[in-house]
Parts: sequence; C-alpha cells; structure tokens
Amino acid sequence: MRYYITTPIYYVNADPHLGHAYTTIAADVLARYHRQRGDDVFFLTGTDEHGNKVAQAAAERGLSPKEHCDEVAEHFRVLTRQLNASNDFFIRTTDPGHEAFVQQFVLRLKDAGDIEKRTYGGLYCTACEGFYYERDLVDGKCPIHQIEPQWLEEENYYFLLSRYQERLAEFFRAHPGWVRPRSRYNEALSFIEQGLEDISISRSSITWGVPVPWDAGQVIYVWVDALINYLSALTYATPGEDLLPVFWPAQLHTMAKDILKFHAVIWPALLMSAGYALPEGEIIHGYLLMGGEKMSKTRGNVLDPFAVMEQHGLDALRFYLFREVTFGQDGVIGLEGFEQRYNNELANELGNLVSRTVSMVGKYRGGITPSATPDAGLAAEGAAAVDACRAHFDATEITAALESIWDLVRRLNRYVEERAPWRLAKDEAQAAHLDQVLHDLVAGLRLVSLCLSPVMPDTAVEILRRLGQPCEPADLLLEHAQWRAASATVQAAAPLFPRIEPAG
Ligand code: MSP
Repeated sequence: MRYYITTPIYYVNADPHLGHAYTTIAADVLARYHRQRGDDVFFLTGTDEHGNKVAQAAAERGLSPKEHCDEVAEHFRVLTRQLNASNDFFIRTTDPGHEAFVQQFVLRLKDAGDIEKRTYGGLYCTACEGFYYERDLVDGKCPIHQIEPQWLEEENYYFLLSRYQERLAEFFRAHPGWVRPRSRYNEALSFIEQGLEDISISRSSITWGVPVPWDAGQVIYVWVDALINYLSALTYATPGEDLLPVFWPAQLHTMAKDILKFHAVIWPALLMSAGYALPEGEIIHGYLLMGGEKMSKTRGNVLDPFAVMEQHGLDALRFYLFREVTFGQDGVIGLEGFEQRYNNELANELGNLVSRTVSMVGKYRGGITPSATPDAGLAAEGAAAVDACRAHFDATEITAALESIWDLVRRLNRYVEERAPWRLAKDEAQAAHLDQVLHDLVAGLRLVSLCLSPVMPDTAVEILRRLGQPCEPADLLLEHAQWRAASATVQAAAPLFPRIEPAG
C-alpha cells in the first residue's frame, strides 16, 4: 500500500517551537508505523514562506524576505532532523519547483471558469493571513489571536468557492470519516452548510509571493500557495521523477484545529476545481497547553524544544507528548508531568525491565538467552497487545497504541514478580522453567520494542541490541512481530533511562 502523509508547512515568521514539533512527531510516528507495515511511504513536511506576516517579520529584522526565510527555514529543517523525523522531503514554498507548480495550478482554476476579478473589502487578520466574517469575531477580535482584524480593500482575483458548497456538503455526507475526530468533521460541515462566500486568492498590496501568471501586478494569496505544497512537492522531490501519479491522493493530512477551515473547506474545493482527487483523510489534533494557554509564537508563550531534548532525550520527549496528551484532544504538558512519567514509566517500568532481563540472562545463563517452548498464555497476551497496538495505529490513535504497549510492559513486570526467577535459579529441577521465563521475557521485550519503535525509534533499536536480537530496519517490520527470541548474547549496559533526581 502507498501511504502519503503530510504535516502543515510552518510559517517562518518566527522560530519553531514545541507545538510545531508535536505535529511533526505525530506525522513521523504514523509514517514510521506504515513503513513498519511494509507500506510505500512518503512523508512530507516543510515551511510556508510567503505572505504579509513573513514579509513583516523580515522587515522588522532589516532583512530581505528571502534572507530571512533562508535563515528561519533552516531552523525548521534542523528541528526536523533533531526530532529524528523520517520525512522524505522538506518543501519550502520559495522553491522554484513549487512556485512554478502553483502558477500551473491557478491556471487550472481559471480554465475551469472559477476565477473572477472583483473589488473586495473585508476584515483581515494578519496573524491568520485570513479574512473573517463579522459573525466569527469574538468581541470584535480574531478568535485565535485576540487581535482586531484590519479593514482591507483591494481589487483581487476571486475563487468562486460558493459554487462548491453543494459538492462539498455532499462529499462530506458521503465520507463521514474524512475529517477526524468527529467533532471537527461536524465543525467543518456546519461551516459549509452556513453558506460559503467566494474568496480572494490574490493580493495586489504585497509583492512577497508567487506572481499571478496572467497578471504580474498581483501575487497569489499565501494560503492558496501553501495548500498546493501537498501536490507540488511530489513533482520535484525526486529529481527527474514525477511522484504525483504515484502518491496523490494523500492518505492523511495532519494538523491542529486552527487551520481546519483551510484544509477541510477551501482545499477540497480548490482540488475539485483544478481536477485533482481529494486526500483520503485529515486528522485534526488538539493543542498542547502549557499552564493553560495555547503555546503560540504570536503570544510569546514558547517552550524551546531544543532545550527539552537536550536535557531529557529525544525519545523521552516523543513518548511523553503522546502518552500524556490523548492524540486528538487538547492537553496540558509541563516539566513536572514529564519527570513523573519519565521516572515511573521509562526508568522504573521499561528501563528496569530491560536491565533486570539482561542481568538475569547474564547471571543464570552465561549471557545467552536460552531456547524454550513459550508460556502459551503469556504469548497469547503478547499477540493480543500487538493486535491492539496495530489497530490503534491504523486508526491514528497514537496514545491508545502506547497504552496497549504499556499493558504489555506492565504484564511482563508482573510476570517477573510471579515467576521469581531468582527462586527458580536455586532449584536445579526448575532449570527448564527458568529457561522458559528468561526466553519469554526477551521475547516479550522484543515485541514491546517493535511496537514502540514508531514512537521511540532509537530506544527500540537499543533495547533489541542489548537483548542480542536482530535490529536492522528490516527486522523491525511488523511481519516479524511474533513471540520469539533468538538465542543470542545479551549486552549489559548503563540504565536506558537514568532516573531524574529531584533538584536540590
Ligand atoms: N503556514 C500555515 C499552515 C499551512 S499548511 C498548508 C500555518 N503555520 S503555523 O506555523 O502557524 O503552524 C500551525 C500548525 O502548527 C498547527 O496546525 C499545528 O499543527 C502546529 N501547532 C502550532 N502550535 C501548536 C500547539 N500549541 N499545539 C499543537 N499544535 C501546534 O498555520
């Protein structure tokens, strides 16, 4: 199966923060999971570089827009690498390949008869780069940024969105799972049903953008330019090869709820008009909240993901974000919560289980995992955990998948207590039993590692390595997720997750 997954492309008006990292990690988890299933995956992320907001940010720094973008886009690219994101391409909307594709795309809208020139005045929020209807404002302010939109009047090219209202509503009704969770689907459908107005898709007041191909005096509206990235990237990501026919339509666009309307209403209408298939689904996650407020660069309430990773390790951060906050819902995160989960679940439950297993195989069996006939009951519990985990990942329920994995981690810890290998070791008559227990702990941890690898890729490989189990990428495919352990030499090493001791 083909699996094309995207993140939003992030604005380069300011540096990346943990909110951006969150979506990128989420998409990475799903991309890695699908590779593990054996799917042919294309994972796209990148930066959104045109528009007023970016031009203003550059001007404030006394830089040209391009100089500014080159610098900040690099910060996003570095973040992507530091997050260990397995993206296949990093798109920048200033790439010549993207700009050329955007022009072709809008020509298709024009050829379809869906573009008209009009004069328009409206309330514009620069932070959103979007117009608001009076009815959507809260106390006269943008509901997302709490700033007053400015009146903007221009002669622009319009996309006749209103023409697509019925087709969109029909599409939504025919595809109730297209936007998930259901609450977001309802929100998008009700927005469509309230009536869609035509939208301006060009700007004459700014120059930082992709020129309208038939009118050099206008640039294409940044949101139209940006949405098209999901198509354009495929045309030049691999030099000399057009991946568009291979990977489009995308299986999943990921994002937070702030940009739902653009992706669930405007994007499908643009695709219908230009004659492209619609993506197969969109998953809308919640906001990471710190101290109760949305972490947003516009409000200056930012946690630096670089510092978090440096102090506590990347995999621990990846784990925490999806363990703590149910994927799809808003959730509060903080250092205290992180330290608690880290100590309880990573240090005590997972890390200790690995250390104990390695040390018992060392002590009782000379460091070589014995061959044995497994405990059928335990093996069945392992298989059930793998099945549950797979079903959750298939449904993009990352938090629930982690829960299934943790059920198995906790089951294995209980198994150690129940069987007490240290007692079995004292009784020669129990030698075969001890072989079986040690074998099954290694087999169980091997399954834990496989299931965990989309979320904690380096940790999974490290556990397998310590257990002497095959750990090349091909060995991590889910087709190998059976209850078994190679009879190989284990490696003792320092704790995987040294406990965080309380400060002072
Ligand atoms: N450039 C547009 C997207 C264009 S996509 C064709 C944009 N950029 S953005 O930099 O503002 O990124 C918004 C996205 O960043 C959100 O939809 C979400 O994916 C992510 N997040 C930003 N802050 C976040 C949180 N506090 N919590 C969760 N996600 C966050 O909008």
